[in-house]
Amino acid sequence: MKPLKVALLGCGVVGSQVVRLMREQSGDLAARIGAPLELAGVAVRRLGRKRDADVEQGLLTTDAEALVSRDDVDIVVEVIGGIEPARSLITTALRGGKSVVTANKALLAEDGSALYAAARQGGGDLYFEASVAGAIPLLRPLRESLSGDHVHRVLGIVNGTTNYILDKMDSTGASFTDALEEAQALGYAEADPTADVEGFDAAAKAAILAGLAFHSRVTAADVHREGITEISAADVASAKAMGYVIKLLAICARADDGRTVGVRVHPAMIPRSHPLAGVRDAYNAVFVEARSAGELMFYGKGAGGAPTASAVLGDLVAVARNRLAGAHGPDESTYADLAVHPMGDT
Ligand code: HSE
Repeated sequence: MKPLKVALLGCGVVGSQVVRLMREQSGDLAARIGAPLELAGVAVRRLGRKRDADVEQGLLTTDAEALVSRDDVDIVVEVIGGIEPARSLITTALRGGKSVVTANKALLAEDGSALYAAARQGGGDLYFEASVAGAIPLLRPLRESLSGDHVHRVLGIVNGTTNYILDKMDSTGASFTDALEEAQALGYAEADPTADVEGFDAAAKAAILAGLAFHSRVTAADVHREGITEISAADVASAKAMGYVIKLLAICARADDGRTVGVRVHPAMIPRSHPLAGVRDAYNAVFVEARSAGELMFYGKGAGGAPTASAVLGDLVAVARNRLAGAHGPDESTYADLAVHPMGDT
């Protein structure tokens, strides 16, 4: 069977793990897909840099635009993050008929509709499981498994860095600054921790979750956002004394009228008996409440190279299978026009 050619954009923490898993599991992946995956090229910012992945020099390029425009490339995996150049590269790839797998929550939350439109135009797929909650299979269940149900609410911890910080403050009495330094040393925080501690990362993820859960267009600008920078060791200690723990929650809820959606991210006091209170370290956990399914809980590693690469590989298999079958994953063309209010009436 002719191989499906994959272009990788970015070879950092996640990209290196994607290369490793593609190599180590090449036989299994080929059997599951029905054709082998072949790395066509890896776009990086600088050629000389030492990286974790063992990529042949001949595959590396700094010309990402040329790589995503190549006729022989079937699938583009984007793990560079940020808005530009990711947006232009993904758009070029999709318009050119390629399928795209991305972990880029900021871009999806800002401009997901334009990306879906480019995918429709080109006929390829847009999959993004790795953009929210790392390894946890959460977007596919919302997008597909629960698409016959009516989701009322999605609520949970979707940022590992802030959960690590709040957990450290709770368990050791550490200050916010000391706990943040530890999270950075462990590599959990984004390059600029503002995205984590001010809630931008969680707000982007909440927008993506709300869009899929309620089949409606929600952007990061629709999300009410409050971070954890104002939380002191004394706040955490008083919450503890009252039998509560402080967590940064993302809450996406549909009002009873079914027409209004509220999406917000803010610190909340949770009783210690609640399952979310037991989510320690940099783990994520998300509850989904649906009319027929009832309450579902998703839990696991929400950050890190290998866990995030696991989600990327799952998407890679899905889009590769779709290409061979001439099929397409879901898009947002059937979305309802719901009103979105940052705090909602929910
Ligand atoms: N900085 C993010 C987090 C990484 O801590 O959850 C995964 O999106």
